[in-house]
Amino acid sequence: MHLLIPAAGMGRRMGSDRNKLLLTLLDKPLLAWTLEAAEASACIEWIGIMGQPVDFPDFQEILAQLNLTKPVELIQGGETRQQSVYNGLQALPTDAERVLIHDGARCLATPELFERCGMALQTCSGLIAAVPVKDTIKVVDQNGLILDTPNRQQLWAAQTPQGFEVKLLKECHDQGRQQGWEVTDDAALFEKCGLSVHIVMGEETNLKVTTPVDLSVAEFILRSKIKNQE
Ligand code: CTP
Ligand code: MG
Repeated sequence: MHLLIPAAGMGRRMGSDRNKLLLTLLDKPLLAWTLEAAEASACIEWIGIMGQPVDFPDFQEILAQLNLTKPVELIQGGETRQQSVYNGLQALPTDAERVLIHDGARCLATPELFERCGMALQTCSGLIAAVPVKDTIKVVDQNGLILDTPNRQQLWAAQTPQGFEVKLLKECHDQGRQQGWEVTDDAALFEKCGLSVHIVMGEETNLKVTTPVDLSVAEFILRSKIKNQE
């Protein structure tokens, strides 16, 4: 299975002056943790990383440090995550039938989660890792007034990996470009095209490192994981 890692963001909400994936988490850059999990997942045979060219020297350095056994390609990212994934899809080897897409910023995803998604993708054409939401979610209008309280039983928080049949996802991206759809994940494109997307149980610890608080939480989770392994 092929894996695409969107890593071309700016990390604005992190408030740092560089791509947050280059920030250090314990002893190595955030992106290195993501890559190590991908390397440890038996179902993944090829890794494409979408980044901004200005970051490529740093990415190269991370790759040199990790010395992965799997082939890795650096792909130029776009202005939005959606465009970055689009570029990644175009850069896939022609024999790629199914692809997992996993945000570089979700650096705590375990190899087991990749395996679970990889396995599930053998029998369906679209899936995402997700977890049941713990909070009660409110739909709110522009004046700060609550419009609705959806039944929590039906609410899941989307994560990555997300996995798709390459041919179908490419078609969805093409349609999205034609229609000017702007979405935050690939599942939304799939849904808008009327295709089914299945849920795979995600991981509570699989957070997307977005703000400085997330970075501290990620560090805490990693420390406890390491402690449990000792
Ligand atoms: N991403 C990407 N290309 C973009 C924007 C985002 O590949 N043009 C990637 C990010 O690198 C990240 C993932 O998509 O791994 C999820 O995006 P997000 O958490 O929003 O990261 P940033 O866009 O970097 O952060 P922010 O929105 O705070 O600027
Ligand atoms: Mg973003």
